[in-house]
Amino acid sequence: MNADTTLPALEPQTPQVALTAAADDRELVVRDLHVVPVADRSREILTGIDLTVRQGEVHAIMGRNGSGKTTLAYALMGHPAYEVTRGEVFWKGLDILKLTPDKRARLGIFLAFQYPTAIPGLSVASFLRTALNARRRPIDAGQGDWDPSDMTKGGIKMGDFRRLMREKMALLRLDDAFAARYVNEGFSGGEKKRLEMLQMAVLQPEMAILDETDSGLDIDALRTVAEGVNAQLSPELGVLLITHYQRLLNYITPDHVHVLARGRIVKSGGRDLALRLEQEGYAGILREAGMPDEAAAAEASEPVEEGAPV
Ligand SMILES: Nc1ncnc2c1ncn2[C@@H]1O[C@H](COP(=O)(O)OP(=O)(O)OP(=O)(O)O)[C@@H](O)[C@H]1O
Ligand SMILES: [Mg+2]
Repeated sequence: MNADTTLPALEPQTPQVALTAAADDRELVVRDLHVVPVADRSREILTGIDLTVRQGEVHAIMGRNGSGKTTLAYALMGHPAYEVTRGEVFWKGLDILKLTPDKRARLGIFLAFQYPTAIPGLSVASFLRTALNARRRPIDAGQGDWDPSDMTKGGIKMGDFRRLMREKMALLRLDDAFAARYVNEGFSGGEKKRLEMLQMAVLQPEMAILDETDSGLDIDALRTVAEGVNAQLSPELGVLLITHYQRLLNYITPDHVHVLARGRIVKSGGRDLALRLEQEGYAGILREAGMPDEAAAAEASEPVEEGAPV
């Protein structure tokens, strides 16, 4: 189901920054990505990730705690605590590793955080309007060309914004009071997830990276994420869904599933791979990948996830 919008679609961005040839501008292409934390450069967390996510596809990245899932999400978005030491990431024909996080966002990449931050004093509505205006700013806009308070210079009209909010809140079945609350202040785990989904619906990304919490989310919150994502799926949206538990994949059907261990993808497959993980846990796959120690640790610490879909 595609989200209908009363606003004109965001203008496709054709940035005037140096282009490097990429295979296809509808793909996020990750090649041989190596990442270290800035705090400890001697420690390589991602040890060579290869991955291609096309718009219209849902890819799940699964891995045990500490396998590097969040590091991958942060590296793709340009988090300053992580440094890419080798490899390339292309999106829309650009080598995005050269771009700041805000430019990556303006090119349609979105990251939903595993642990969203509270911002007391800032309402959900103000936050989203500011974020949307920032997103709409052309990547090559010069100073003075762009003024979010001026609709002739790219800012969204208040009426249009209200309409968009109403529509997206209805899509996600949020009540009106939600918009007036402070960002994540006193929110339950499920409400934080709802806000991440609302943010995604308002910003209309073309590549969404969703780093899902693997604890503290009850089944309703999981469903919230799943319904939020499913309501927004379209041929224009690529999704990189990061999750520890296969449970979420009972609600969102991935086209491709990748297992991450010690900073690299050790196995890729279709939805059946997630089902195998549900039945067997990680141990078998890690052993096949030549990681006996990891497999033993998986066996010791992670009994096969209980419970079928609720
Ligand atoms: N900024 C950092 N400085 C030092 N070590 C880090 C940093 N960020 C991550 N690490 C380490 O890198 C490894 C991978 O961490 P990451 O958060 O990417 O794992 P994850 O797969 O997201 O785990 P989880 O399932 O618990 O969310 C961990 O051992 C972690 O301690
Ligand atoms: Mg994580």
